[in-house]
Amino acid sequence: MSSKSGIDNGKNSSDFALKLENVSKCFQVYDKPHHRLLQGVFRGRKQYFKEYWALKDISFSVNRGEIVGIIGRNGAGKSTLLQIICGILAPTAGSIQINGRIAALLELGAGFNPEFTGRENVFLNGAILGLTQQEIQYRFDEIASFADIGNFIEQPVKTYSSGMYVRLAFAVATCVDPDILVVDEALSVGDVKFQAKCFRRFEELVAGGTTILFVTHSTEQIVRHCSWSILIEQSKIQEIGESKTVANHYFDLLFGVDRTKEEPLLDEYSCPDGSDSTVESVENKLNGVFEERSTYNSDEYRWGNGEAAIVDYLVTRDGKTNLSSIDGKDTFRVVLAVVFNVAVEKAIFGLTIKTPDGVTICGENSRDCIDAPASQSFKKGERVIVSFVLGQFLCLGEYLLSVGVVEEKDGELIPMDRRYDSIYLHISSEKKSYGLVDFGIRVEI
Ligand SMILES: Nc1ncnc2c1ncn2[C@@H]1O[C@H](COP(=O)(O)OP(=O)(O)OP(=O)(O)O)[C@@H](O)[C@H]1O
Ligand SMILES: [Mg+2]
Repeated sequence: MSSKSGIDNGKNSSDFALKLENVSKCFQVYDKPHHRLLQGVFRGRKQYFKEYWALKDISFSVNRGEIVGIIGRNGAGKSTLLQIICGILAPTAGSIQINGRIAALLELGAGFNPEFTGRENVFLNGAILGLTQQEIQYRFDEIASFADIGNFIEQPVKTYSSGMYVRLAFAVATCVDPDILVVDEALSVGDVKFQAKCFRRFEELVAGGTTILFVTHSTEQIVRHCSWSILIEQSKIQEIGESKTVANHYFDLLFGVDRTKEEPLLDEYSCPDGSDSTVESVENKLNGVFEERSTYNSDEYRWGNGEAAIVDYLVTRDGKTNLSSIDGKDTFRVVLAVVFNVAVEKAIFGLTIKTPDGVTICGENSRDCIDAPASQSFKKGERVIVSFVLGQFLCLGEYLLSVGVVEEKDGELIPMDRRYDSIYLHISSEKKSYGLVDFGIRVEI
């Protein structure tokens, strides 16, 4: 979508909460610290800095009561944008109109004085947000109860964990009835329970007419919670509009996947119902390099004795290989190419699906599954194609696949090649179910 506004929700345009027109921000970047000093001495006569445009030509408007997600890679310009909206940074060009009082939760470390107690910081912050002492006193109990950090409220903030810090900061920012709430990734340090509470609070605020702008790296969060979203890439708006489209686009950017480049298999190898493809058809496509696949996670954890190596993989479905995204209702395959560097009597191949924060959803291996293969011994130099067929129960979101091959010897399992969290997988879905697994729950009344 190329329009520079959010999804038109039919509201009057004078009902906007904020409006940005052609906002750009240029930073002066100095190669060496003393260049900054020299620049001061030489004023305009000589230039010691380079220009870096952190934002270019940003225009959009947000209506009251909308919750807007801002997503983009590291360094894209998201925090710079929020700081400009909050008035912490001045734009180099362009105009910003703000309709109401802003409360912000910017990057950790900003906002509180570390030497003061939580209680003192609540009063300090409230005052900065324009509340009187009485107004803050009136809300203090609500703030303390939302933050739920117990007696730490009387301790200096420098003794807080990052989670405790963000709990208190979130409580202050959301209990002062802001017209606009701006949140920069802060929630990601809170635990899952607190995050859920924050999103409930968002909903209450939005119902009361508050506008929320919210930076995250979670496509799931924007799809679930945002009225519409903005994707920022290299200082510019790359996509603006429906959160699902924005999320898909972001995912493509992350993994460099051009969806048109998914390689179709030969038709004759695809099953008539299109539900799957055979191992043979994939075999000759498995001659790439594991580490060069677009969904490979370079932060994988790999270990083992090297007697076998998982050298390539493909995610396949519906006659297509090299997939990065699977629809939540489809069956698909994860196919591995494994090379044996020594002869192995009994090898076991495994696969595990986890969430990015490490929750194991499901795992299976070739020894314990119902239709375990008959032959499990392999010769030195043998190349084997291992195919895991996955029936689908996952909810929308991002997942990580771990794969491994171990040798079973005298009742012991000896890891030969374990590649934990090595493959990214995006599950898309039309359906809005909550959690990780879709049990196909029906409601009957
Ligand atoms: N004060 C500054 N001086 C010079 N460059 C800056 C300054 N602040 C930010 N930048 C640069 O501007 C770019 C955008 O930074 P910004 O913090 O807005 O990114 P971001 O999208 O929030 O990234 P992340 O996801 O890592 O938080 C980066 O390249 C950063 O180095
Ligand atoms: Mg940032």
